[in-house]
Amino acid sequence: MSDSFTSATAVPRHVAIIMDGNGRWAETKGQPRVMGHRAGVKSVREIVRVCRERGIEALTLFAFSSENWSRPEREVQLLMRLFMAVLRRELNDLHENNVRLRIIGDISGFDDKLQQRIRAAEAKTAGCDGLQLNVAANYGGRWDIAQASQQMAVLVQQGELSVEQIDEQTMARFMTLADQPEVDLLIRTGGEKRISNFLLWQCAYAELFFSSVLWPEFDEAAMAEALSCFGGRQRRFGLTGAQVTNNL
Ligand code: FPP
Repeated sequence: MSDSFTSATAVPRHVAIIMDGNGRWAETKGQPRVMGHRAGVKSVREIVRVCRERGIEALTLFAFSSENWSRPEREVQLLMRLFMAVLRRELNDLHENNVRLRIIGDISGFDDKLQQRIRAAEAKTAGCDGLQLNVAANYGGRWDIAQASQQMAVLVQQGELSVEQIDEQTMARFMTLADQPEVDLLIRTGGEKRISNFLLWQCAYAELFFSSVLWPEFDEAAMAEALSCFGGRQRRFGLTGAQVTNNL
């Protein structure tokens, strides 16, 4: 849990973003939906830069949910190709900018070539210690909780963990991103107000910010607004406002 309760200048340590609105952006321009995803890559680049400049420690982007497989086959195929191309094109820049990349989710669902490229990209940036960029691909918050439970069940079966030891702290150690701060700020673009099975465990105390801006148009100014709104929030973590204000 972050220790900063409130401050007008507070910078979130970990920002997570549901990048929504690509398809609608393209449709309003009379273009195929995939053009919206392509345009969305430009926003990814800009927001990564802003996070680096603002000293944010971790940024987690929702690129492809477990449920997105049900989209029209052509869109899924084009998205996969786009991920391959983005990994190839952006890797050097990420490395030069000291960004450490991690893909979270069940990547066994992707074809072998994409899996290899993901592992190679992670390996290349493994020594970077600037911004931690997590890209959630074939990810679901419920999947994450289930995979953590499976890992613990195996340890119980092997006699290395007792049932009594299973509590929130133990569980947290098996969730993806266990080595990173919990999410402080969750942003969703595109006007919808839902969490859509993203980082359910990690967002327990996140501040939520919903923007009507479609992801391809989400730029530095839009991000600045989200960060400034976060800075003005009072984070109570279950305490009363008076307790937090008086530091009791
Ligand atoms: C949601 O918009 C967006 C996606 C499912 C894909 C996001 C992918 C990118 C921004 C490009 C690649 C990014 C990385 C980090 C490799 P939507 O299609 O649901 O939009 P809609 O709600 O308008 O239909």
